[in-house]
Amino acid sequence: MFRHSRFAPSTEGRGAPADGRLRAAATARNKAPIAAVLADWLPAGGTVLELASGTGEHALHFAAAFPRLAWQPSDPDPRHRRSIEAYRRSEGGPNLLAPLDIDVTAPAWPLPGPVEAMICCNMIHIAPWTAAEGLFAGAARHLKAGGGLLLYGPFKRDGRHTAASNAAFDASLRAQNPAWGIRDLEAVTALAAAAGLAAPRIAAMPANNLSLWFEKRGGGSAP
Ligand SMILES: C[S@@+](CC[C@H](N)C(=O)[O-])C[C@H]1O[C@@H](n2cnc3c(N)ncnc32)[C@H](O)[C@@H]1O
Repeated sequence: MFRHSRFAPSTEGRGAPADGRLRAAATARNKAPIAAVLADWLPAGGTVLELASGTGEHALHFAAAFPRLAWQPSDPDPRHRRSIEAYRRSEGGPNLLAPLDIDVTAPAWPLPGPVEAMICCNMIHIAPWTAAEGLFAGAARHLKAGGGLLLYGPFKRDGRHTAASNAAFDASLRAQNPAWGIRDLEAVTALAAAAGLAAPRIAAMPANNLSLWFEKRGGGSAP
């Protein structure tokens, strides 16, 4: 599934644990820069719902970085949920919750209540556009007013790639699945607006990625 992606989870290597913990080199590289922008954008308390958590390395790192937040990982892939749960049991603190089975395209997500924030890294380009639609529909349903969604990954701007490496990555994604591909920032922003989220704050990230913070309108604070 991840043959052409920058996310290639693996259990390979000397001393790899047998409990299902996966590793992805890109996730290990980008977790600290993403945590730095989250520190500026996340609320002081409440629950953060992570969609498409993958290996669980992000969830482990972010839960430790923000101990006052409850961190709720999720992924529809059972192999990934096993990895997330293995990290949680072996290394996680009390604020790292057990992973949920959430496919963002589902019309209802199994959550006990609304959340203060959401985060989704490196998913909408490695899934059909319906996943982006489902993500923002879910943000509209499940975010508290004034809460925010962090979206991380590569984006085109004004229909153009921002780097040759992103263009090559996009071509490899589309070769693997024609419904995949790097999304236009403007199209994503329009989708967010239709779901009641404000235009994003934008942070440039290493390796030609962006972090976007979409705030749900109605919280009384400026975007
Ligand atoms: C490239 S991995 C990114 C994992 C992690 N967020 C990271 O950045 O390391 C993409 C993830 O999206 C998940 N995914 C794919 N389609 C999805 C969907 N419809 N709803 C939720 N997650 C999905 C996959 O199971 C996988 O874990």
